[in-house]
Amino acid sequence: MTDSNVRPKDMERITTPALAKAFIDEQIKAMKEQIGDGKVILALSGGVDSSVVAALLIKAIGKNLTCVHVNHGLLRKGEPEQVVKVFRDEMDANLVYVDAVDRFLDKLKDVSDPEKKRKIIGAEFIKVFEEEARKVEGVRFLAQGTIYPDILESNGVKAHHNVGGMPEDFDFELVEPVKLLFKDEVRVVGKELGLPDNMVYRQPFPGPGLGVRCTGAITRDRLEAVRESDAILREEFAKAGLEGKVWQYFTVVPDYRSTGVKDGKRLWDWPVIIRAVNTKDAMTATVEEVPWPLLNKITQRILTEVKGVNRVLYDLSPKPCATIEWE
Ligand code: XMP
Repeated sequence: MTDSNVRPKDMERITTPALAKAFIDEQIKAMKEQIGDGKVILALSGGVDSSVVAALLIKAIGKNLTCVHVNHGLLRKGEPEQVVKVFRDEMDANLVYVDAVDRFLDKLKDVSDPEKKRKIIGAEFIKVFEEEARKVEGVRFLAQGTIYPDILESNGVKAHHNVGGMPEDFDFELVEPVKLLFKDEVRVVGKELGLPDNMVYRQPFPGPGLGVRCTGAITRDRLEAVRESDAILREEFAKAGLEGKVWQYFTVVPDYRSTGVKDGKRLWDWPVIIRAVNTKDAMTATVEEVPWPLLNKITQRILTEVKGVNRVLYDLSPKPCATIEWE
């Protein structure tokens, strides 16, 4: 660990817009010095860390930044569209949007082992990003949304994608403007940079995305059931004022069916499992006591609006024994 990876003991915690503004000005100056008129590439997932890094770099070097957004088909409803809207349309960024949905889903076809699924998603992500990086002429810098807990927990390796790194012939210099910040500070900076609230206060989302919530071998129809039910859950939690209050909430659609009945016809459909948990560090978690009327409303909407579903269940298991995700 080099000194530049150690947060100075006297570094003030960024808790106010004024402190965020000072940080932004300081980082823009430092990045301009580091990068000069060089070119930078960034994998922009739309999560808070990479979004804040993108917004900082857009201010510092404008079009010399290329953001690559890889849509692997496992993102939540509306997220790829929001990345394009915020960064290309509103911030005028140089954004490459890669529709890699078929590529990922074809690779994942019939793969049911959770660790194999994770590895495929991670490895494919690196491959797609590498292909795009090679298209940008003269790129010398790689920007990353590394934050301080990444440095403390995994020696500076952003743990998102769970596999390797860039190929050896890629000799990038790293640009990591938020590497000494904690998550809450990144959010204050994001707010000051004008990013939308639902990006800044976004709940944690695993690198393999909805892939770990569509258990077993992923099929397109079941993946859609995960995406649609997740969107309903998020919408209803937001309406009920729970957004930003419950640490993580999502739905899971397991790869088994049960009988049901609708309009006098027998059904053989999937269940949707709702999970909503609170935690400080994701090592242990307690279950959110969601009010019954809200659970009921979400259930009714899922059963009417999501195709192929005939049951809704609420996961009452704390961590331990259960993990937060289902795979
Ligand atoms: P578990 O399921 O282990 O999850 O209790 C703890 C936290 O980690 C997230 N998670 C992941 N994040 N890649 C990630 O980037 C992954 O493969 C992954 N698996 C779990 C999970 O969402 C929770 O916040």
